[in-house]
Amino acid sequence: MSTGAVASHHEPILIVEGLTKRFGGVVAVEEVSLEVRRSEITSLIGPNGAGKTTVFNVVSGLYEKTAGHIWYRLPDGRQVDLTEPVFDPLHALIVSLATLGIGALALAVPRLRRALYYRTRTPDAIAGLGIARTFQNIRLFEDLSVLDNVKVGLHGRVSSSPLDAVFRSPRHRREERDIEAAAAEYLEFVGLLHRAYQEASSLPYGEQRRLEIARALATGPQLLLLDEPAAGMNPTETNELIRLIQKIRDAGVTVFLIEHDMRLVMEISDHVVVLDHGRKIADGTPAEVRQNPDVIAAYLGTHTEEASG
Ligand SMILES: Nc1ncnc2c1ncn2[C@@H]1O[C@H](COP(=O)(O)OP(=O)(O)OP(=O)(O)O)[C@@H](O)[C@H]1O
Ligand SMILES: [Mg+2]
Repeated sequence: MSTGAVASHHEPILIVEGLTKRFGGVVAVEEVSLEVRRSEITSLIGPNGAGKTTVFNVVSGLYEKTAGHIWYRLPDGRQVDLTEPVFDPLHALIVSLATLGIGALALAVPRLRRALYYRTRTPDAIAGLGIARTFQNIRLFEDLSVLDNVKVGLHGRVSSSPLDAVFRSPRHRREERDIEAAAAEYLEFVGLLHRAYQEASSLPYGEQRRLEIARALATGPQLLLLDEPAAGMNPTETNELIRLIQKIRDAGVTVFLIEHDMRLVMEISDHVVVLDHGRKIADGTPAEVRQNPDVIAAYLGTHTEEASG
């Protein structure tokens, strides 16, 4: 790993600053600020509909923010705002060719240039910066084998060209072998190597969740977002998951986690952030958050609503 020179432990790797996300009239996330520190496990908790997944969706580029900033520290130490549009050469070229006159004018007018040549980062681009995620509703290639699902995660990192693949060049074959070996290593890491050649959909639920984590890890992230990884797991599976998440952190990957299982959250988190109705209501160590009256009220509040509705 080459991150040691610039990446210092426990510095913020992600700083969310005044983030707001609206869907029409619904304010899903309202002026939320939080920090995720490198080499730590940070949990994002809160009742259903609190805005947790929406935070992940903006961080990972699935949704555009309404307002705010998301500062992310790259492996080389530079800090970028993930939500700010960036210059896109290909897009700029297409726009220029399509609108020669405006394109020339855009060179002179900064605001027009921004509108025409800059684009918001795509989820792929953000993944390329070292942020990987899993989904609340498991997303796997169900018909593919377990091993092939992980190979999909690795393919973003290869260097051979499509032509190499067509002609099955030695370089391409070597790379395929390397990918296969690397995929097997990730499967071993999450404890699924014995399932390598089974169809992904044939796995029990808890193992599908672990496979999704393996695929996310295969993209080589420095920050991993896990959206309710323990959902639907029995206590034994949850215990295995706790150990896996700690192993991921120990391997140098920062973990940002959404979870309803309070035993898991309290056991492994270095830091907990609590959302309710889109707003942050608490932020601190597990012990601090557990005793916070606002947090207790938010959770009790939902239970009464559920009981009456
Ligand atoms: N794509 C969308 N379009 C419209 N409204 C949305 C969209 N995504 C989320 N919302 C709304 O934003 C609010 C927050 O939703 P979000 O999924 O972020 O909550 P959550 O904290 O992840 O909840 P849960 O614990 O149930 O997963 C909800 O009111 C939800 O209905
Ligand atoms: Mg959610």
